[in-house]
Amino acid sequence: MAMTDPDNLVAAASAEFEAAPTPAELENAKARYLGRSGGVTELLKSLASLPAEQKKTRGAEINQAKARIEAALHARREALAEAELEAQLKAQALDVSLPGRQRGAGGLHPVSRTLERIEAIFASMGFDVAEGPEIETDWMSFTALNNPENHPARSMQDTFYVDLKDAEGRWLNLRPHTSPMQVRYARAHAAKYAGLQARGERVPEIRVIAPGRVYRVDSDATHSPMFHQVEGLWIGENVSFKDLKVVFTGFVREFFETADFDVRFRPSFFPFTEPSAEIDIAFRSGPLAGKWLEVAGSGQVHPSVVRNFGLDPEHHIGFAFGMGPDRLAMLRYGIDDLRLMFDGDLRFLSQFR
Ligand code: PHE
Repeated sequence: MAMTDPDNLVAAASAEFEAAPTPAELENAKARYLGRSGGVTELLKSLASLPAEQKKTRGAEINQAKARIEAALHARREALAEAELEAQLKAQALDVSLPGRQRGAGGLHPVSRTLERIEAIFASMGFDVAEGPEIETDWMSFTALNNPENHPARSMQDTFYVDLKDAEGRWLNLRPHTSPMQVRYARAHAAKYAGLQARGERVPEIRVIAPGRVYRVDSDATHSPMFHQVEGLWIGENVSFKDLKVVFTGFVREFFETADFDVRFRPSFFPFTEPSAEIDIAFRSGPLAGKWLEVAGSGQVHPSVVRNFGLDPEHHIGFAFGMGPDRLAMLRYGIDDLRLMFDGDLRFLSQFR
């Protein structure tokens, strides 16, 4: 194609501009036609060698061709700019149909839910809720609770000890049960009413539960080195085993939302209660029907322990119990492995949101 023909030059320029994929390549193509040594300039230079009478028409033709090339350039520039804008908009597009990013909703751990339930039920029966230390003295965990010096609970196989000694020179322990809270709460109560006691006047009743973490050297599908207990204590002038039965049966009825169960007090032994009993329940219907389930240890508080409360066992009598809320949560929610409770696996925990 002879580039000395202005029409050919226009056709070639238009085709190259159209084919330029980017603004940069378009500007390169422009230089080849409209630049200082481009095709149009070359044509204009060739005018010099023409006879005067041809110069005018040829010059007009070249100028026309130049104008058409410029028009093609502008058209392509605009098309490229538009395409670029289009691409940008597409890249930044908002998909308004996408689900939003939400903050994950948390929830209470099944054990926390169970503790809240237990606290609410006992509060409705006039029980205070108290909490105490998880690192205990030897006296609080054992001696005050009438444990003999050589009791197995005191051994390193059953109880975790802390590498620190108390004022008596005995190792501190991670409390193996919540029973020390009987002593702490009752002693504070006795101190508060010491004046009344001294005058032989009536001291208000103690009615308290103490939920919390406890620790034992034990780990399998049904035992965890850390677990929970809820201690109960009711001390008055005339509190009997009958009251324990009424309170505990009422609690089970409220907790499991059914009256369709039996309660059994099975004779047992604890150093701090006499007599002592394990409390078993058996549902009469449902998936657990007919199975005796051990839910608490209990008993009438031993006179020596009442004395360690700072109260006179001649005038103060009552009962205590200790139950396992982890176990109760498992029964209520149908969970079969205690370890699930403390693994922190969200697939398990998120079911309780
Ligand atoms: N402390 C006992 C235990 O951990 C339970 C218990 C509490 C028994 C109160 C009787 C009275 O096994």
